[in-house]
Amino acid sequence: MNSTSAKPNDVVRLLYDDKSRLERARERASRIDRLMGLRGQKVLEIGCGHGDLAYVLAEEYGCQVVGVEVRGYDTWSAMKHHNLDLIEADISALPEQGHPLLGRDAFDRIISYVVWEHMRHPYAALQQCQYMLKATGKKYLHAYLGGAPTLSHLYHELKQPWIHLTHSVAEIQAALGVDELPWYFWCNRLTHSHYLTYFRQLGFYVAWEHVISQPFDEEYYRKNEKLLGLFPLYDLKAHALQVVLEFDSNDPKKAIADPVYALCRHRSADF
Ligand SMILES: C[S@@+](CC[C@H](N)C(=O)[O-])C[C@H]1O[C@@H](n2cnc3c(N)ncnc32)[C@H](O)[C@@H]1O
Repeated sequence: MNSTSAKPNDVVRLLYDDKSRLERARERASRIDRLMGLRGQKVLEIGCGHGDLAYVLAEEYGCQVVGVEVRGYDTWSAMKHHNLDLIEADISALPEQGHPLLGRDAFDRIISYVVWEHMRHPYAALQQCQYMLKATGKKYLHAYLGGAPTLSHLYHELKQPWIHLTHSVAEIQAALGVDELPWYFWCNRLTHSHYLTYFRQLGFYVAWEHVISQPFDEEYYRKNEKLLGLFPLYDLKAHALQVVLEFDSNDPKKAIADPVYALCRHRSADF
């Protein structure tokens, strides 16, 4: 593995300055609005980070917005708006926290950008969305997938694709010269199939989907096949998932039967 002189915190600088963050937030707001309509809606943004998107929705789209973030950001003090609440909380642990703004059927729309891959309990977090979203509500999710070459942000530091799959945490820490990795290098390994299974269990239908792929580095894959061959090619080629989720209007929030079990007589350990 190549070592690097850059410190992990430098990755933060790859994020945007104030101006480009706002531009990015406006682009995202316009895109999600076209996909599922945001104007005037009650919106929850999960993992709202600096708060720019939540602010744009409150200020420019007439939304009533709640942003939830597991860690508060300094920028929040500049994001004051009468239609915006930014809350420091772990979305997957909300039942214990019982926040008054985060109740059952509280939202028309739930959105999140590049957050789910950083979740320690992604299924519990989706369960919370099922609980907080109205039966007629819609959820937009954009998440990097477990097989994405640049998933962990480490690519920017160490210039090696799929490093989170080919190297141990100890090896990565040694290459970076640190004892502990910052939170943004930690990512779960959920694939497209995991997400689809979770959606079924929680009664979320996929109303719109875009699976983002990048050109596949065949040569690198072949050179490293001993390690990368442990993972399905399908997953190594699917980088990110964007979906709009909805419930069945007649039977909302009910698990969706899987037709693959249609001929199955026994699903438990009967033998
Ligand atoms: C890569 S950042 C993206 C931030 C913002 N959505 C953006 O696009 O700029 C992921 C964010 O998700 C937050 N996050 C991770 N797990 C979370 C959880 N369980 N509950 C709430 N926020 C969480 C992190 O603190 C982090 O700010």
